Amino acid sequence: MAKTHNVAVLVGSLRKASFNRKMAHVLAKLAPETLKLEIVEIGALPLYNEDTEAPAPTEWKEFRASMKSADAVLFVTPEYNRSVPGVLKNAIDVGSRPYGSSVFSGKPGAVISVSPGVIGGFGANHHLRQSLVFLDVPVMQQPEAYIGNAGALFDEQGNLIDDRTRDFLKKYMHRFAAWIETNAKS
Ligand code: FNR
Repeated sequence: MAKTHNVAVLVGSLRKASFNRKMAHVLAKLAPETLKLEIVEIGALPLYNEDTEAPAPTEWKEFRASMKSADAVLFVTPEYNRSVPGVLKNAIDVGSRPYGSSVFSGKPGAVISVSPGVIGGFGANHHLRQSLVFLDVPVMQQPEAYIGNAGALFDEQGNLIDDRTRDFLKKYMHRFAAWIETNAKS
């Protein structure tokens, strides 16, 4: 029987009505039972500054501990100026240090970008993947998830109202579960 895995979800938007946050909640419901998704908040993390490592801010310590206890990481992010929003890049930088203690190392991951635009956040998705190569995160390659036209995907309550997108995301989460099963650190 497949093991249950805890998945830390990092959402690259702080906006209350964020499409990406709505997507993260939808994904938690669409995921197979073996995956427990939980959003790890990143909005209160002080900007990374190596001078403040000792002692590190409490927010950094708590974030690192939450990430360390997760079996996998799922990034759900908008694209800002064709790249990764600063708030998400900051969380990645905080989690990657101190040198040798990265919370990401060897942790299976996946990237979903969500945008109201037609390109579906492709630029952010791939800039993020560049960092994840360096961080030694085994990132699921297929299927890729560039979710465009986000303004038409949700109702007022944040439910996904597009059947094709729901079918795709369901398959995506099943593939991610298999990816984690294969690549999880023992
Ligand atoms: C954007 N937006 C945007 N969209 C896109 O597809 N490509 C881009 O490069 C950008 N750049 C960008 C920069 C900045 C600073 C902002 C605030 C916004 C639009 C963005 O996709 C839109 O605001 C989304 O709604 C953001 O995601 P959330 O907050 O809904 O999850």
